[in-house]
Amino acid sequence: MQFVVYGAGAVGSVLGGMLSLHRHDVLLIGRPPLVHVVGSGGLRLKSATGEYLAHPRATASLDRSDVSPDTQVLLGVKSYDVAAAVATLAESIPSDTPVICLQNGVGNEEIAAQHFSRVYGAVVRMTCSMVQPGHASFRALGRIVFGLHPKGSAAAVAELVAAFRAAGFDAAPSKAIGDDKWLKMAVNAQSIFHALIDVRDQDENEFFDLKVAILEETKRVFKAAKIKARSANGKDPSIDEMIAEIKRPRARRNEHGVKVHNSVWQDFYLKRPHIEAEYIHGPVIALGREHAVATPYHATALAIATRCHAAQSAPESLRLAEVLAEVAQSGHSG
Ligand SMILES: NC(=O)c1ccc[n+]([C@@H]2O[C@H](COP(=O)([O-])OP(=O)(O)OC[C@H]3O[C@@H](n4cnc5c(N)ncnc54)[C@H](OP(=O)(O)O)[C@@H]3O)[C@@H](O)[C@H]2O)c1
Repeated sequence: MQFVVYGAGAVGSVLGGMLSLHRHDVLLIGRPPLVHVVGSGGLRLKSATGEYLAHPRATASLDRSDVSPDTQVLLGVKSYDVAAAVATLAESIPSDTPVICLQNGVGNEEIAAQHFSRVYGAVVRMTCSMVQPGHASFRALGRIVFGLHPKGSAAAVAELVAAFRAAGFDAAPSKAIGDDKWLKMAVNAQSIFHALIDVRDQDENEFFDLKVAILEETKRVFKAAKIKARSANGKDPSIDEMIAEIKRPRARRNEHGVKVHNSVWQDFYLKRPHIEAEYIHGPVIALGREHAVATPYHATALAIATRCHAAQSAPESLRLAEVLAEVAQSGHSG
């Protein structure tokens, strides 16, 4: 199988790199610095269990001649780049080429489906970092759920699952990938707090309470909006199980030897021109408004993300007390 990774950042590079190490033909489409590093010395992947040097092909733009009948496109750009990416892709590859959306958040598959007839969603449950082009890191190969958009089953999903399992991932199929994506959104609702709150505060009970609170709020909104946020095969924790896990007495944080920061942290660290916060918190806030459910935690999460992004703040530059005060303020005003 040939894979084109369109948008070879953190996730795309880890997935593409591991697939290339397992004898798949992988072509990374990335920015010139990444293309240069991968082309000259290979793609370095660092994990808690080992380091890998992969040699996928890499280029800055896709040409029709790069695509074969068994090509699958792994769309690795951020949500804010999806519309432009699929429009560009549609100019150079056939419209029946399978396109797999790796983004967190909902709605990207619909955008891809405006140009492509075979669209799949993937829920990537692992944290990948790449702050230096061509050097990606992750703690361990995680779980990836694949499903036909909007729902149902397809032979291509089984092929994807088999390819990713062979490359070491805990891959699984879903017949209702939208439900898995909504569930993942609850996970990602907490990401901004990990990215922006001072790491010294992240072992405090109030930090765990904050995570529980945004999950409880998300659950109330989903219930009112009749959103099925669930794991299609029941293997990923429900929102209630996530809450129970956060409340469990725990040892202090353990970095497992490899420092890996979430995608939101990476955006602040690299001072990227865009962030994805609107795509994670925006839909929950909008549903809350529609169904008369207050969303002070999501509103605060979006507000601190927007403000810190505009100010080009460094990651972990907020104190927990400031964020809690802002939630209280948002609760009173909203
Ligand atoms: N990282 C994680 O742990 C993780 C886990 C699960 C899901 N996800 C989701 O996966 C998606 C990607 O996340 P990520 O962390 O991998 O982001 P990322 O590191 O920013 O990767 C996206 C890459 O695509 C590049 N890109 C955008 N448009 C391009 C184009 N036209 N041609 C070539 N390259 C292009 C970007 O370059 P520029 O920055 O220069 O534009 C960037 O390098 C997000 O939706 C995220 O929510 C991430």
